[in-house]
Amino acid sequence: METKIGKTKLSLIQGDITLQKTEAIVNAANTSLLGGGGVDGAIHRAGGPKILEECKAIRAKQGGCPTGEAVITSGGNMKTKYVIHTVGPVWSGGNRGEEQLLRNAYYNSLDLAREKGIKSVSFPSISTGVYRFPIDKASRIALNTVKEFVQDHNFVEVRFTLFSERDLKAYEDASKEICR
Ligand code: APR
Repeated sequence: METKIGKTKLSLIQGDITLQKTEAIVNAANTSLLGGGGVDGAIHRAGGPKILEECKAIRAKQGGCPTGEAVITSGGNMKTKYVIHTVGPVWSGGNRGEEQLLRNAYYNSLDLAREKGIKSVSFPSISTGVYRFPIDKASRIALNTVKEFVQDHNFVEVRFTLFSERDLKAYEDASKEICR
């Protein structure tokens, strides 16, 4: 599914984010930046040891990455040039600022991409796996945050790369409401 928001193409696809050829892909990391399972594990496996080395250099400088913030490394062995590592919130019922932290994760990833002059970015569905953020809420937060950001800052493409058909459908349903 594709729509245009200003000059930016917003695309929703089902696929593996490690194979995307956008200039940057976003990783749903954890605060340690030392890798993990899910999309974090897939990106470190596909990108190779260089990505972990760069993450360790960031840790040496600033410690890890606080929830909602974002840092950037190269894409290692992958086709993408950059990996933007962000940390989404763990869902604990919705009364601990999780929605704002998820918004921050998308916003800060896009802002870092803008700062680096990156014009195409692929996102996974941040926080909706191990971190158990309900996908009907998360998809609306994600799409609203992207929509607001690209209204002021042009990108060529923002691509949501959903791993399952169920996740793709959730984002398509949300997009029909938000990006019509
Ligand atoms: N490409 C695209 N999406 C993927 C891929 C992939 N290769 N692998 C998994 N996903 C999807 C999952 O299906 C889920 O929809 O990414 C989404 C986010 O799930 P997680 O990877 O579990 O991320 P999150 O819920 O944010 O939890 C982060 O999990 O892996 C650890 O180190 C990570 O501690 C951190 C936590």
